[in-house]
Amino acid sequence: MAVDIRKRIETIKEKIREHDYKYYVLAEPSISDLDYDLLVKELEKLETENPHLITPDSPTQRVGKDLTKDFKPVTHKVPMLSLANTYSQEELIDFDRRVREGLPDGEIIEYVVEPKIDGASVSLNYAKGLLKTAATRGDGTTGEEITANVRTIKSIPLKLNLLNSFNYKLNDFEARGEIFMKIADFRKLNEMRESTGEKLFANPRNSSAGTLKLQDPKLVAKRPLNAFLYYIISTEEEFESQFKNLQLLKSLGFNVIPEYRLCKNITEVLDACRILEEKRDSLEFEIDGAVIKVNSIRQQKILGSIAKSPRWAVAFKFKAKQVYTKLTKITWQVGRTGAITPVAELEPVLLSGSTISRATLHNFDEITRKDIRVGDTVVLEKGGEVIPKIVGIVLSERKSKYKPTIPPENCSACGAPLFKPENEVAYYCENAECPAQIKGRLEHFASRGAMDIEGLGEALIDLFVEKKLLNTYADIYDLHLHRTDLINIERLGEKSIDNLLASIEESKKQPFAKVLFAIGIRYVGAGAAKKLADHFLSIDKLISASEEDISSIYEIGPSISSSVKKFFSEEENIKVIQRLKKQGIQFTSQKKEVKENFFLNKTFVLTGALNNYSRDEAAEKITLLGGKVTSSISKKTDCLIAGESAGSKLEKARTLGVNVLTEIEFINLLEEASK
Ligand code: IVH
Repeated sequence: MAVDIRKRIETIKEKIREHDYKYYVLAEPSISDLDYDLLVKELEKLETENPHLITPDSPTQRVGKDLTKDFKPVTHKVPMLSLANTYSQEELIDFDRRVREGLPDGEIIEYVVEPKIDGASVSLNYAKGLLKTAATRGDGTTGEEITANVRTIKSIPLKLNLLNSFNYKLNDFEARGEIFMKIADFRKLNEMRESTGEKLFANPRNSSAGTLKLQDPKLVAKRPLNAFLYYIISTEEEFESQFKNLQLLKSLGFNVIPEYRLCKNITEVLDACRILEEKRDSLEFEIDGAVIKVNSIRQQKILGSIAKSPRWAVAFKFKAKQVYTKLTKITWQVGRTGAITPVAELEPVLLSGSTISRATLHNFDEITRKDIRVGDTVVLEKGGEVIPKIVGIVLSERKSKYKPTIPPENCSACGAPLFKPENEVAYYCENAECPAQIKGRLEHFASRGAMDIEGLGEALIDLFVEKKLLNTYADIYDLHLHRTDLINIERLGEKSIDNLLASIEESKKQPFAKVLFAIGIRYVGAGAAKKLADHFLSIDKLISASEEDISSIYEIGPSISSSVKKFFSEEENIKVIQRLKKQGIQFTSQKKEVKENFFLNKTFVLTGALNNYSRDEAAEKITLLGGKVTSSISKKTDCLIAGESAGSKLEKARTLGVNVLTEIEFINLLEEASK
């Protein structure tokens, strides 16, 4: 009896898997919905009666019950690279030339041309045929684990049919691809959200990426996500070609985009790209270009990669789509730095699957240059980026009653007179107490890349600033003193306030680099903040550093260093930092323990062209080994690493008696140090 039940369960599971494949991958259902539901019901019943027979790969186990509290970091075994972009035939011909130059003479080179799907990339790890983990791309090296959410996507098999594996063992491998939403599904989702008053998604890509980061898999399961796989890798297997790998993925039960083509030369590649571009609008999903890959995996390995992109593949971006619409109004938005940005309010129009009703006009110069007037018919274009651009106006539609646009004289948020620095294009509101600036600064401080205070978004910040509960960053960490007041504010319940206070408390753990980014020093983006934090290790050292000290850091320029000095010369800023310090925010970072090695505590300068690394890669390696990289040679420099055609820096190093290393010597030392 027990054996029979076990068998019956296996049979039903197999049947459901097959029907899922036919329905979700092939879009060719072979049984009625009713019969399918009966199968699922029978399986559920058998599993309820025999819970010990439930396995994680059962179709009933796609949607987990638990919420994902935090998406754990996953280090990709093989980094997830991105692609260099090309925009013209010439650039593609150039790519082909570089590929040929990178390979031994006489090699026959074939390419595969695939659609570039506009979704969110994902890496799926399968062990012994079972889906183990799924991860986002993240920064390419480390992504976030989204297994529970990905399991809900019916076109992604939980269990593979390894009998169809072309004789590969496939004991442990990764399949990579793109999670996306069909345009029609995306529209339906947005219509539903509109009817329930929820915020709309800008485009199918955002809605896919947003869905993958939901904490509740049950909600994810309700969203129409789909996946195309286009890449298979395994450290245990020697694959032959991209073309065969796409067939292998298909044969394993994955959804593979059918519009791929094998090309014998670059002329055929150009042809395939043109055909894809023509097909673009008839596809059910968004593609924003073609991806061209060297077919042979052996050749791919010879070509390798530079920085974050492979030398064996390139993206060909399609021309941006354009539409016309009417400019109904120009509003002047005040940013966190006080800079005023003109925003075009438009008659809503559909462009690449999203409804556009606003577009930035960047600055007043741009308006003058293009002579943009309220009433004009404008040309809107959407390239690879989410935000559409106004690329021009239709002069023939211009009417004499449309008057030239004049710059505003006063801040739209606080009424203060505006000021335009001589060497800048932007107008500024210089009132530090301007509510729009205060809100902008607080929003930036709380945002994901900064202090990451969940729940403290635009709406709450607006409310708290208006109620005078928030003014500076430090006020955020005093909010807990006003718990009762907060709860009494209309609409905010006790639970949501406690959650908010908990995430505020949690944000105190954010490392110094994030804090430095969060406090909003002009020109100090996340990357510069990290470099400053790694170099100075504490805010006090950064405050007392000279402008020269700061700008001598590799890739920190004079505009950053002077802005940093200016920021710390303002008493208000120092006061806020003192308060934040008392509240327990991290203003120091520990240097990671690095074992004794040649690079530790030495200062390096890079010059000339290196053959084996990009400058950034070389700098990163040195920093990881505890060395510092600066941009100019001085007596404090320990070593100059001189690549090919090094010029004035090499001369200066010789004059100053600074030790000079060749690239080969540098690589040997790196290897020695990493042992
Ligand atoms: S191949 C090393 N193929 O485009 C291989 N990528 O900028 C790298 N994408 O992160 C990716 N369709 O998310 C590849 N057919 C396709 C693709 C594709 C979309 C995305 C992917 C990647 C980004 C590259």
